Amino acid sequence: MNVNILAIESSCDETSASIISNGKILNNIVATQSVHEKYGGVVPELASRAHQQHLIPVVHEAIESSGIAKNELSAIAFTKGPGLMGSLMVGVSFAKSFAFALGIPLIDINHMEAHILAHFIDEPKPQFPFICLTVSGGHTQLVLVKDYLEMEVVGETMDDAVGEAFDKTAKLLGLPYPGGPLIDKYAKEGNPKAFQFPISDMPGLTFSFSGIKTAVLYFLRDNLKENSQFVEQNLADICASVQYTLIKTLMQKLKKAAKQYKIKDIAIAGGVSANSGLRNELELMSKELGWNVFIPKFEYCTDNAAMIAMAAHFKYQRSQFCDLDVSPEARLKI
Ligand code: KG4
Ligand code: ZN
Repeated sequence: MNVNILAIESSCDETSASIISNGKILNNIVATQSVHEKYGGVVPELASRAHQQHLIPVVHEAIESSGIAKNELSAIAFTKGPGLMGSLMVGVSFAKSFAFALGIPLIDINHMEAHILAHFIDEPKPQFPFICLTVSGGHTQLVLVKDYLEMEVVGETMDDAVGEAFDKTAKLLGLPYPGGPLIDKYAKEGNPKAFQFPISDMPGLTFSFSGIKTAVLYFLRDNLKENSQFVEQNLADICASVQYTLIKTLMQKLKKAAKQYKIKDIAIAGGVSANSGLRNELELMSKELGWNVFIPKFEYCTDNAAMIAMAAHFKYQRSQFCDLDVSPEARLKI
């Protein structure tokens, strides 16, 4: 019998639906919310409303384009957390109602585990155990992945996420939200050694990114006092220098984790894995340290329902379903 699962993602500001059939992703429909751009960050209340508007059309498109009829669906999967409570509620409520109406099982998915399981959508796939560096707007984690559904967080940030550091720096430079991709773009033209910012020195595998944000703030304030055109004249160099510092911080801990756990299969996940500086560094490490590096396709790096569907496939195989009284958890842990 075919196993067809509809998966819904609504944890932050992307409304997404995907159908997986017998372990193969058939589609990945994503509606991005542009409403947040002018506010310089995601506004939770507006995100929930936009999910409410986008969800039905996105689900409809996923089902229509899959060629699978509603009565051929085997289960409904959804993101339980972590994420914005109001955004999660929209996806969870919809998934529950739909599963109840169709009389099929419901599968709850941890968004952070799903980011990692996105590596199993396409070839090449990492071998267990591997280490995944998950870097997004909300998280910075080093995860030891022992099996599809057996993961251990071995390091994480004690304050800001690295994506947040990219976005906050961009905001200070007057760039629109989300600024990470723009910093990446301007950094390509700049000198990464032009300006120096502190690399945090946290113990073990713990990250910290709040210091660099403050350092950039004071650096800009001091330089703008002397030259009001400082940012315009040095944009590429500032972006390159900040990016260099952020990537160096990530790489230091990643190398430490790989050494500590004696692992050479290294994966990255989350929106910041699109960063070209990080990708270059990883490529370098594959040559220098013999790492096998795994980077998902861009469409599976940022928030998407295909990764939720992939995770749901593994839970379905193990009959890991949840009850209809399930609630979202904004701070759900791996
Ligand atoms: O995983 P994601 O789509 O959403 C969550 O936060 O869960 O990640 C979004 C983050 C944002 O902070 C965005 O600025 C960052 O990923 N990002 C990048 C790049 N592309 C996306 N940061 C640096 N360089 C990029 N090329
Ligand atoms: Zn995410």
